[in-house]
Amino acid sequence: MQIRPADVRDAAGITAVLAVVVGERVHSAIASAWTVEQEAAYLASLSGREAIHVAVKDGGAIVGLQTLDRWSAHLDSMAHVGQVGTFLLPEYRGRGVGRELWNATLTFARSAEYRKIVIYVRGTNLRAQAFYTRLGFRPCGRLKDQVVVDGVLDDEVLMEVFLPQAG
Ligand SMILES: CC(C)(COP(=O)(O)OP(=O)(O)OC[C@H]1O[C@@H](n2cnc3c(N)ncnc32)[C@H](O)[C@@H]1OP(=O)(O)O)[C@@H](O)C(=O)NCCC(=O)NCCS
Repeated sequence: MQIRPADVRDAAGITAVLAVVVGERVHSAIASAWTVEQEAAYLASLSGREAIHVAVKDGGAIVGLQTLDRWSAHLDSMAHVGQVGTFLLPEYRGRGVGRELWNATLTFARSAEYRKIVIYVRGTNLRAQAFYTRLGFRPCGRLKDQVVVDGVLDDEVLMEVFLPQAG
């Protein structure tokens, strides 16, 4: 499995993975996936401090991705805070790919001078909470009934991890 930063040419592959994960309805607060055009526009808009890393199998197909964005696009006081999201096709889960994506995101985040990373995870998504806990995140809050997907309410669990500064 190759892990590399995405560019605009990856819009279709990323959209395909997100369509599968969003279609499962239980993992993410995203209720409707972007079109290829919307994803391409997003990729083109990324600043030098934001990235999507993709997991690519032999043959070049994208099987997973991890996003890193600024927590707030507008508040300079929160420029040291990033947020991530991780999405893998079902058959590639539980095989260490999420950890590999995190290693790449973490290296990028440190070079981009983030000092902490935050994630919202759906309250019922215990697998993702266990995954982020293994990466060093700790729960730091819970928003009740924050998500409605197909008429079903769910909480959002807020988790954070601090990135020690080198030196
Ligand atoms: C959640 C998800 C990203 C995790 O990625 P993954 O590739 O399955 O996780 P990995 O196999 O790399 O596991 C990484 C670590 O988390 C741990 N982990 C993963 N799932 C776990 C579980 N259900 N319970 C306990 N630990 C778990 C692993 O043991 C591993 O620990 P280690 O690296 O210290 O040995 C992936 O399963 C996924 O895409 N799920 C559907 C989409 C989703 O829920 N995304 C999150 C939305 S916020």
